[in-house]
Amino acid sequence: MPPDQWNAVALDSQIRASSSNPVIVNDYAVALWRSASGQVNAWEDRCPHRGMRLSLGFVEGEQLRCIYHGWGYAPDGQCRQIPAHPDLTPPKTICARRHAVERRYGLIWTNLADDPQAALPDLGADEGWVAVRSIFLTGGVQEARKAVAGDLAEWDGTVSDGDVVTLEMPDGTRLAAAFQPVDAGSTGVHFVARGPAATAEGRHGLARQVVQLRNRIENN
Ligand code: FES
Repeated sequence: MPPDQWNAVALDSQIRASSSNPVIVNDYAVALWRSASGQVNAWEDRCPHRGMRLSLGFVEGEQLRCIYHGWGYAPDGQCRQIPAHPDLTPPKTICARRHAVERRYGLIWTNLADDPQAALPDLGADEGWVAVRSIFLTGGVQEARKAVAGDLAEWDGTVSDGDVVTLEMPDGTRLAAAFQPVDAGSTGVHFVARGPAATAEGRHGLARQVVQLRNRIENN
């Protein structure tokens, strides 16, 4: 049974409209897709027909189409179109497995539990967060969290260690690191920022610092 827990899986700006993307959370394959109108969906990366990866599919308007036989799925998961049988209304039982998904703090989050009750991590106001950079670290999520918090503690500012690690910089900028447990040997870390340095230009400087952080951790 998957844990009732929200994990950041991408920077919101990384997932373009009309695209389907593969994401792994706790060894489980997710198709993260965004419709033409911008709605984000997190589905099991498996077509109900013959099991093809839906992340390889293509988005047409508000539907995700499987690359193999072209079956089309609406955001409610229901199969709406079977190209080989255009006059057939697909039975209701043909339905992709959907997972809870939220967009907040410039991040996309999923919760794989069947009936999610957990609250999203609270970073305060949702407005003003900008994408900085995603990195991947070798090792499990606990190890990655410890390493990121340890590195940020050497920066100027105050670190808060929790599900999301944050750094309050002297100029009031807040840098947040949200973790994606990929598998036992790999963890994604998605960085977003809010405040004076979270501008189009300042963001690039922060992204360079995040890359240096990754290099320090990986070379340690
Ligand atoms: S496997 Fe997806 S449509 Fe056949």
